[in-house]
Amino acid sequence: MAESNGPMGNRQETGPAENSERIPEEPGKQYSGSVQWLSPSNIALVKYWGKRENQIPENPSISITLSRSHTLTLLRYSPARKGRGRLAGFLFNGQEQPAFSGRIESYLGLVRTLFPFLDEYEIFIESTNSFPHSSGIASSASSMSALSLCLLSMERILSGASPDDEAFYRKASYAARIGSGSASRSVYPGYVLWGSTPGIASSSDEFAVPVNEMVHEVFSSMHDSILIVDEGPKAVSSSTGHSMMTDNPWSPARYSQACENIESILRILNAGDLDEFVKLVEWEALTLHSLMLNSRNGYILLKPGTIQIIDKVRLFRRETSIPVAFTLDAGPNVHLIYSSLFREKVEKFIREELLVHCTRGKWIDDLIGEGPVQITGK
Ligand code: PMV
Repeated sequence: MAESNGPMGNRQETGPAENSERIPEEPGKQYSGSVQWLSPSNIALVKYWGKRENQIPENPSISITLSRSHTLTLLRYSPARKGRGRLAGFLFNGQEQPAFSGRIESYLGLVRTLFPFLDEYEIFIESTNSFPHSSGIASSASSMSALSLCLLSMERILSGASPDDEAFYRKASYAARIGSGSASRSVYPGYVLWGSTPGIASSSDEFAVPVNEMVHEVFSSMHDSILIVDEGPKAVSSSTGHSMMTDNPWSPARYSQACENIESILRILNAGDLDEFVKLVEWEALTLHSLMLNSRNGYILLKPGTIQIIDKVRLFRRETSIPVAFTLDAGPNVHLIYSSLFREKVEKFIREELLVHCTRGKWIDDLIGEGPVQITGK
C-alpha cells in the first residue's frame, strides 16, 4: 500500500495505473470507470467538539495529517437511468457492512446537490483501513476524505474539466466535511486549519486550509505514536458527543477557550516553541474529555491504561525534559506527539514502559504525512 513520507507540502501522486480512465471526448456522455484514493487520518491539536447545522464547527480546530493510518477507497461507477443513481454495493475490509453502507448512502444523499451526476450512476465502493475503526483513531476522517476525493475525481473525469488543484482540493474538503467534520482536514498534508480564524484570510467554517507555510521547521518531522489501549468500538459515538455540547453549560467557555487556543497554537507553531506546544496540546486533550465528563448524562471514554500512560508520560518529561506531548481523540487511545529529534529515547520509553498498558502490546508508529494520494483514475 502506498505511503507518503517525503517532505511536507509536496503532494505525491502515483503514475498511471492499469485501469485509469480516459477523459471523455464528449463531456456529459456516460461512461463506466473507477477511481481510487488513499487518504490518511489526522490528529487534532486544538479540538473540534460541538457543531451547528450542516457540520459547521462551533470553533476552529487544527490538526496534523498522518501518514500510515489511512483508508484506501476504490469507487467504481457505471451508468444508470436518470434518477436511478444509487449505491449499488459497499465492502469494508472485503466484507459487507450494513451499518457503514447505510452511512455512505445517507452521505451520498447529502452531497447529491454538490455532485448532480450521482443521479445517473450506480456506485460500488470498496474501502480498507490500515487501522481499527471506531476506536478513537479518526477513521471517519480518512474514510470520508478518501470518498470525497473519489467523487471529485469522478466529477473531473465525467466533465472533462482541466485540473485546477486549488479548487479541486477545496471542494474535496468541503464535501468531506459533510461526511465528518474532521475529514475536511485530512484532504491536505501537514498542519491544517478548519474554521474561521481571525488573521487567516483563507480560513473558513466550510472547508479546511493547509497552514504549513506558517510552521517553524522544528515541527516539520513530528511523530504520532498511537498507543492502542483499547481497540473496541466506542461506547458513545462522536456525533452523540457533539450533540451533547448543545446543552452543556460549559460550552460557551469552551468555544472561547478554543478560539484563544487556536491563536496560541499558531503563535507556538510559528515560533517553534516545543515546550509551549506540549502544554497547549495536553490542555486541549484533557479539556475534550472533561467536556464528555461534564455534559448532561456525562460519560467516560478514558480507560485505566489511558490514565497510567498519561502519568508515566508526565513523569518521563519531568525526568528527561524531553518535550513529548500526549493527546487524545474521542477514545481511550493515547497519541504521543514528539519531534524526530527525540525519537530514539521516546521509542525506548514506549517499549520499556508504555506497551504494557496497550492491548496485546499494540501501537501504531505514525508520523506527519503528505496528505492523500491518488492511486487510479486521473
Ligand atoms: O469529525 P468527527 O465528527 O468524527 O469529530 C471529531 C472530533 C475529534 O476527533 C474528537 C476532534 C477533532 O477535531 O478531530
